[in-house]
Amino acid sequence: MPKLKIAVFVSGSGSNLQALIDAVNAGIIKGQIEIVISDRPDAYALQRAEEQGIPALCIDKKARRDEASFGLQLMSCLASVKPDLIILAGFLSILPSKFVEEYQGKIINIHPSLIPAFCGKGYYGEKVHRGVIEYGVKISGATVHFVDENTDTGPIILQQAVEVTADDTPETLAKKILPIEHKLIVKAAELFCDKRLQLDGRKVKIRGVIK
Ligand code: GAR
Repeated sequence: MPKLKIAVFVSGSGSNLQALIDAVNAGIIKGQIEIVISDRPDAYALQRAEEQGIPALCIDKKARRDEASFGLQLMSCLASVKPDLIILAGFLSILPSKFVEEYQGKIINIHPSLIPAFCGKGYYGEKVHRGVIEYGVKISGATVHFVDENTDTGPIILQQAVEVTADDTPETLAKKILPIEHKLIVKAAELFCDKRLQLDGRKVKIRGVIK
C-alpha cells in the first residue's frame, strides 16, 4: 500500500507532532509527514519539524487579514503536497469552512477533553482543564475526531477517560491527559492510513480489532 501524505497543523510545543513523527519513523503510521504548518512563528513545533528535515512554515495568526485569505493561504501551501490526511495537533486557529469543505473527511483533530464536554469556541489548551476543574466533573480525557464545519463537533474516532482528583490543578490534569493524547492521535492516524476508518453519518466505524 503506498504511503499516505500527511500535513500536520500546530500552534505550540508540538508534543503531539513529536508523537506522530516517532510513530511514522517507527513504521506504525504508514504515511509520510510532508509539511508542518504553524499559525505562530514562535511555536516550538516548527523546530521539531525542522530537526527532522520536514518542511515547516508559518502562516502568522497576527498578520492574518480575514478568514477567506487565511483559507487561500492554507490551500496554496498545500497545493503542491496534496495531502491525504491533515492532522490538527494542537492547532488553535479555527479553519475556514471553505477549507474544511475542500478536505472533507480528511481532517482529524485532537482535543484534551471528553467531547461533547468542555469543547467548542474558547475551549483550548489550558482553558479546557480549568473549565473541567471549576465545573467539578470527576472524569475528563481526550478525544480524536474528524473535523466538520463547526468547532469540535465532528464524528468521534477515539476517546479515553482519566479520573479528575480533588487535588488536580489545570497543570496536573494536562500532564495526565497529554500522554493519552499522544496515544490516541497516533492510533487514529495509524487507523486512517490503514484505511480502517469508515464514516457512517455521525458515527465512525473501525474495521478490525483495535490493539
Ligand atoms: C494539546 O493538549 C491539544 O490537545 C490542545 O493543545 C495542546 C497542544 O499541545 N489542543 C486543543 O486544545 C484544541 N482545541 P502540543 O503542542 O504539545 O501538542
